[in-house]
Amino acid sequence: MSSTLSCQELIEQLEVLEQEAQKDIEEVSDGDSLEKLRISLLGKKGRLSVVLSAMGRLPGEERPLVGQRANLLKTKVQQFLSDRTKVLKQQALEVLLREETLDVTVPPIGVPVGKRNPLVTTTEEILDLFCGLGYRVAEGPEIENDHYNFAALNIPEGHPARDMQDTFYLGGNLLLRTHTSPVQIRYLEQNKPPVRIVAPGRVYRRDAVDATHSPVFNQIEVLAIDEGLDFSHLRGTVLAFLRSFFGDLPVRFRASYFPFTEPSAEVDVQWRGRWLEVMGCGMVDPAVLEGLGLDPERWSGFAAGLGVERFCMVRHGIDDIRRLYTNDLRFLDQF
Ligand code: DAH
Repeated sequence: MSSTLSCQELIEQLEVLEQEAQKDIEEVSDGDSLEKLRISLLGKKGRLSVVLSAMGRLPGEERPLVGQRANLLKTKVQQFLSDRTKVLKQQALEVLLREETLDVTVPPIGVPVGKRNPLVTTTEEILDLFCGLGYRVAEGPEIENDHYNFAALNIPEGHPARDMQDTFYLGGNLLLRTHTSPVQIRYLEQNKPPVRIVAPGRVYRRDAVDATHSPVFNQIEVLAIDEGLDFSHLRGTVLAFLRSFFGDLPVRFRASYFPFTEPSAEVDVQWRGRWLEVMGCGMVDPAVLEGLGLDPERWSGFAAGLGVERFCMVRHGIDDIRRLYTNDLRFLDQF
């Protein structure tokens, strides 16, 4: 730029600059380009500063004329820029709204959702019924030792339940628990009576697989210890539970034997014209209480153990226990 420009020429340049700026700004179609344009117009090395530096060479009294015109230009250009920014933003929003429309009325593509195995729902249903009677859920380990699985439950050496045929021994003193009854002992070691618990879990026996047997199955242990509990409490609890679960099926108690209860009973329900054994139960043997340091003169209680598979099979009319373990969706989808 020549250093000999007059005041009039500079003002003309500013007018041209303003018109061109307005036109260029109108033509920009995105934010980045607009920013580049802003810098080329108003930035340190932009077109406006070129004019202003030429202004420095004018006689002092002429400078304010050019300066005022330059300020006006700057304000106007800034206004063009901000108007354009608004328009561009609005256009971008409209594009987004147009392209991202979502039809919420379109039916969803079927998402395969997993189902809960009926054994799980049966377990939860049984636990719920007992929780409604004030019981808490307790758990114990599946790998047990001789003491908890047998000795503390008054199962003496040589009892058939200890037979190698029935128990999976793991070596040393360890074994896979054959029932959930050891949770009785573990819980009473940690908690003072009165107690009321239900303890669900897997148990293991060396049984051959057939329609009613599996080497791994599920039990729920029931235990109540308090002052003054007798067989009528056991009977009342079991009947209330069975009626809630099965409805009005006929129920009978049969005298039986378990080393850890005295007296003991097995409970049958009549189903499809046959008596079907569903649980063992009894009054906790005083020897078990004494082993835990509880005075049998003061504390008494009852216990029960039930097989979840059996409850599940009766409830759903399932004829073969193996169906419960095979993860066949054609079977599981029915529940
Ligand atoms: N533990 C026994 C079993 O597996 C079942 C049982 C019977 C549990 C009587 C009890 C009970 O708590 O009182 O075969």
